[in-house]
Amino acid sequence: MKFLITGSKGLLGSEFDRIIENDKLSLSRQELDITAFENVYKVVKEYKPDIIINCSAISNVDYCEVNQNVAFLVNAIGVENLLKCAIEFNIFLVHFSTDYVFDGNKKEPYKISDIPNPINVYGKSKLKGEEIILNSGYEKYLIIRTSWLFGNGKSSLVDKIISLSKNEIIYMTEQISNPTYAKDLAIKVLDMIKKGYFGLFHLTGSLSVSRYELARFILEKIGYKGKIVKVDSFPSIAKRPNYSALNNFPLEPLRDYKTAILEFLRY
Ligand SMILES: NC(=O)c1ccc[n+]([C@@H]2O[C@H](COP(=O)([O-])OP(=O)(O)OC[C@H]3O[C@@H](n4cnc5c(N)ncnc54)[C@H](OP(=O)(O)O)[C@@H]3O)[C@@H](O)[C@H]2O)c1
Repeated sequence: MKFLITGSKGLLGSEFDRIIENDKLSLSRQELDITAFENVYKVVKEYKPDIIINCSAISNVDYCEVNQNVAFLVNAIGVENLLKCAIEFNIFLVHFSTDYVFDGNKKEPYKISDIPNPINVYGKSKLKGEEIILNSGYEKYLIIRTSWLFGNGKSSLVDKIISLSKNEIIYMTEQISNPTYAKDLAIKVLDMIKKGYFGLFHLTGSLSVSRYELARFILEKIGYKGKIVKVDSFPSIAKRPNYSALNNFPLEPLRDYKTAILEFLRY
């Protein structure tokens, strides 16, 4: 099987790039801009992948809020470009979406059957990307909604919490979701592809946690002696859902964040 990985220098893309050893073409944003249809078409036609793994996205939530056009261009039109090529060359398309397609008003993990209602531009643009695939009628796809990724590829919430440890007081919100180790996610998705899964799924680490509790867990492990204070919210450009944990049924969730973070921190 031949893989085309887009956004290969991102947090998740770099995991796929590391794990897939052979028969792959890994392209960063600089090497393939998914918003340029002609370029996407040319690469796909020449390389003839069996599978496209789309890890490209504008994932910075505040950036999306003030750059709505760019967010929709990459997170929706870019997806459409890949989909058109997938359809023309009969390629399986793997795409990632987010817990932020939900509004956060629920008190229990969101199921696949729950109706999305994004409250920020990032969530809206990601939902549009999903809809483009879902409404196309093409069946050779996997859409994986995931949440709070961390890993070696790029700085994440976990790295941000560690970087705050130089402060005497740290403020964290009670926003809740499931931290997900990018490496675990990539391994599982490759297994799903091999086993012939298709459709829309939720796939995250098994435990949900607030940012506050997550910070306590990580900072305790690295010997932080300062104070961690709970706050309702921070002033931010984009609104975030207060609660966006995902129910992974019918899949088994990935490793819980505690085990995965200890491995990530090499404890
Ligand atoms: N990170 C999370 O917590 C999280 C949570 C839920 C879902 N997700 C989803 O998971 C997927 C992977 O996210 P991630 O955390 O790996 O994001 P990421 O680290 O921001 O990686 C995204 C990659 O896409 C690239 N990119 C941006 N615009 C592009 C374009 N026009 N053409 C090609 N590549 C482009 C970026 O390049 P530059 O860095 O050069 O801009 C970056 O390398 C995304 O679909 C995201 O929405 C992420």
